[in-house]
Amino acid sequence: MTVAAKSARKPAVQVGIVMGSESDRAVMEEAVKVLADFGVGSEIVVRSAHRTPEAAAKWAKSARTRGLRVVIAAAGGAAHLAGAMAAHTRLPVLGVPLASSPLQGFDALLSTVQMPPGVPVGTLGVGGWGSRNAAFLALRILAVSDAAIARKLEQHAEGMANAVLSR
Ligand code: RP5
Repeated sequence: MTVAAKSARKPAVQVGIVMGSESDRAVMEEAVKVLADFGVGSEIVVRSAHRTPEAAAKWAKSARTRGLRVVIAAAGGAAHLAGAMAAHTRLPVLGVPLASSPLQGFDALLSTVQMPPGVPVGTLGVGGWGSRNAAFLALRILAVSDAAIARKLEQHAEGMANAVLSR
């Protein structure tokens, strides 16, 4: 394989992003973009804890053997998706509550955050901030055993600091 062909190769898919509805996609594409900016591949799928419970469980159960290392699960309303994922895989699950119901995400936050001990969901903020931070937290998890991602995170932190201090 040539050097050019190698560098054009898609990065390995290490993060699985699952969302409760197609209507969640725009917010969760923000996580995809953060991961892509750091050279980390992701898959993004729609599976619902309520509408497609068997398909959601199947996706979570096969996550590790498909090569995923972190799961990001996002849903709005009575959001049980992240908890359901954590019940079916021992990979780290990061939950993103979405503001898609009349309660503006407060319902999803409470549904996602208070998991019983032993079945953790690392819950992020509501909406776009949570989506982006789920990706950054996934990168920090991957960086524990990936020096290249750790270096990129350091550079990113330096960039944020410089942006503040140069004003
Ligand atoms: C949740 O209900 C989804 O995650 C979405 O945020 C919300 C509304 O879904 P749709 O009615 O737009 O499919 O399950």
